[in-house]
Amino acid sequence: MSNSPVIEMDKICYTYGGARQVFALQDISLTIGAGEFIAISGPSGSGKSTLMHIMGCMLTPTSGGYRLLGEEVAGRTSSQMAKIRNSAIGFVFQNFNLLPRASALNNVALPLIYAGIGGKERREKAQEVLKKVGLGKRISHHPNELSGGEKQRVAIARAIVTRPRILLADEPTGNLDRATGKSIIAMLKDLAAEGMTIIFVSHDLEMVAEATRSIQIIDSRLAG
Ligand SMILES: Nc1ncnc2c1ncn2[C@@H]1O[C@H](COP(=O)(O)OP(=O)(O)OP(=O)(O)O)[C@@H](O)[C@H]1O
Ligand SMILES: [Mg+2]
Repeated sequence: MSNSPVIEMDKICYTYGGARQVFALQDISLTIGAGEFIAISGPSGSGKSTLMHIMGCMLTPTSGGYRLLGEEVAGRTSSQMAKIRNSAIGFVFQNFNLLPRASALNNVALPLIYAGIGGKERREKAQEVLKKVGLGKRISHHPNELSGGEKQRVAIARAIVTRPRILLADEPTGNLDRATGKSIIAMLKDLAAEGMTIIFVSHDLEMVAEATRSIQIIDSRLAG
């Protein structure tokens, strides 16, 4: 089981509708194994975020097959997709997406509410994960009292608190200075070493070089 792929895409296409159709992804076939640490790069508008959203079950492919943890997800309803997403996937956004009025602890505990976990256990788990990302002393801080790098650590803690098999990070270092960005990538690498499958988007060659495999998307297609 541990050797079977976590992500298998077979000729995935995604077309945004509306007045002007955009063929954002065309014929993407790729296989990603457990514990891989993968960078996705490519020019702006090439389809990276669209691919991440399909991987994260936030978008349904227009055509093609997508098996996640061995199960076909293409063709599922949005509520079925939400269930899969909540149990298997953590997502980190470039702009952190934290709740401004909630403490670091409550931001991180939020996904555990959806998972139906009680208050005391939620606080304990959230605290444990904040310690793991080096923010044990910032648990009651609000997002506006945290630096960019600290906010991204909170976002990573929130994404991993449910122990997802897969962590997707769409330009997690895009809003950070280089040194802070590198520390975030180092943290993702440590999580991959623990067995989590990690896929991140980055334009920065130095960050991309940290990955064990890099995938390039050019003009909606896999390059190379
Ligand atoms: N909601 C949408 N409706 C219509 N077209 C869209 C939508 N979102 C993205 N697109 C188009 O799909 C293409 C791929 O967009 P996507 O966001 O995946 O690119 P990206 O590689 O992540 O770019 P960036 O590096 O700038 O984040 C672009 O041409 C974009 O204009
Ligand atoms: Mg993008």
